[in-house]
Amino acid sequence: MKAFIFDLDGVITDSAEYHYLAWKALGEDLGIPIDREFNETLKGVSRTESLERILRLGHRENDFSLEEKEKLATKKNSHYVSLIAKITSADILPGIETFLSELREAGYKIGMASASKNAQMVTRQLGLLHAFDHIVDAATVMDSKPHPEVFLKAAEALAVDPKDCIGVEDAVAGIEAIRAAGMFAVGIGERNVLIEADIVFTDTRDLTLENVLTRI
Ligand code: G6P
Ligand code: MG
Repeated sequence: MKAFIFDLDGVITDSAEYHYLAWKALGEDLGIPIDREFNETLKGVSRTESLERILRLGHRENDFSLEEKEKLATKKNSHYVSLIAKITSADILPGIETFLSELREAGYKIGMASASKNAQMVTRQLGLLHAFDHIVDAATVMDSKPHPEVFLKAAEALAVDPKDCIGVEDAVAGIEAIRAAGMFAVGIGERNVLIEADIVFTDTRDLTLENVLTRI
């Protein structure tokens, strides 16, 4: 193995919770209740596709023009950006900084494959821009996870063969994307949710090189 490629939201920091709160608020405006179970299906999914899924959930997919949908997506994003405005390095999930340093010292390439157009900003606020050799620009990705594109782009930018990469994800769609890219999939979350992951850690504190390498 030569590289680790990380998802951002829900792996590096708990911003997945803020995405959920912002979608939930938009759902309430539209009369479409969004619970945590449905939210699992939005994790790792792009902004536009997430909105489509929410509208379909409420059988309202034909109620809005493209322009109106863009406004709804912008509204959700403004809310999300206001929620994450205050995050700092204190919001990095436990064990992640140590793990990133461990990987750096051991000579692994480190990439980020997030579907978020806010990934650079969030990573900067966390003070972690220096920790990644490459962050894929979500604006250049055509196909949402579970499509492997974002992970393949990260591997290409790191100049590492996908089979020598380990992907780390908290989303069902993300684990599928890692597997479809031909990479080893590490899940962060619940084993009964991330059923397709090769290995799962419930707590980011358990994410250590030894714990991963001994389970491959
Ligand atoms: C990540 C999150 C999703 C979010 C997507 C797009 O994959 O897991 O919940 O919808 O990024 O984020 P953005 O910041 O571009 O709206
Ligand atoms: Mg995620």
